[in-house]
Amino acid sequence: MKNFVAIEDHTRQELNELLELAEHFKNNKFSDILKYKTLITMFFNPSTRTRISFDLAITQLGGHHVSIEPGKSSWGIEIKEGAIMDKDAEEHLKDTVKVLCKYGDILAIRSFPKFKNWEEEKKDLILKNLVKWSTKPVINMETISHPCQALAMIKVIKDKFENVKKKKFVLTWAYHPKPLNTAVANSAGVMASKFGMDIVIANPPNYDLDDFYLQEMKKNCRENGSNFEISNNMKEAIKGADFVYAKSWGSLAQYGNFQKDIHNQYKDWIVDKEKMDLTNNAYFSHCLPVRRNLIVTDEVIDSEKSLVYEEAENRLHVQKAILAKLSGNMK
Ligand code: CP
Repeated sequence: MKNFVAIEDHTRQELNELLELAEHFKNNKFSDILKYKTLITMFFNPSTRTRISFDLAITQLGGHHVSIEPGKSSWGIEIKEGAIMDKDAEEHLKDTVKVLCKYGDILAIRSFPKFKNWEEEKKDLILKNLVKWSTKPVINMETISHPCQALAMIKVIKDKFENVKKKKFVLTWAYHPKPLNTAVANSAGVMASKFGMDIVIANPPNYDLDDFYLQEMKKNCRENGSNFEISNNMKEAIKGADFVYAKSWGSLAQYGNFQKDIHNQYKDWIVDKEKMDLTNNAYFSHCLPVRRNLIVTDEVIDSEKSLVYEEAENRLHVQKAILAKLSGNMK
């Protein structure tokens, strides 16, 4: 494994190997397999879980972590190749990356899309250029996808079900006052479909995920003999679910032109007990951070079927596995 930047780059076997290694690290917290190795993380956006879990993951494996926030704790970065750098950025990504590769052993990045132009932002140039210019393994800590979160999610699912194949996975949009990144939803759907779950995506009209990810999910479902469905009715979609994964995301149809009045029509898209009662006694999870009593009621998130904290804990275990696997590529 050279990099860990997208779920669709990896076979189910590779992902299963990571999950087995994650379970090993869950039961064996400390080792020195990454002694003297340095992880450098670049955060263009805030984080609680990702920053702390990566810090602990490399430290508990004997390594070291340095984190920068370009434009805040380090120089602002220009992304575009060939740019005439007459704006605010002091340094080009190419130079930053080449220098960081002289210092560190693994690079990781978080850079959310800017909600201006999806056709441009879906190219994920910052991640692609980072991979292109880096001589060291790269980890995606959330750009337009969030593979580390999806690995933590599938671990929590596989820990609860003996066989996940054909279990009904409902990825449901839920109301949040702001348009959010589609990254978690993209990776969650690709991951669950790769493991053979029946996929239902529930979202309001004109809130469909990007076609690239939908096609990827459909392809996985076809290959696994499982079902794929998109529904505009949350209550119908959730019926008989075995696992309910809630996430809010911004409408790609309103990208760069957020229409609050349309968005606010969907305030009843909340995961509550009434809807969970329609499921097959489903587990509930969310990537966190979550807006309580907007996306999910206290009653559901605090119930014994809620896996939100286990999934968050899994970030630590799966990221240790990713770091350990990538260490095979360290020079
Ligand atoms: N789920 C997740 O990535 O959390 P943070 O944004 O706090 O890192």
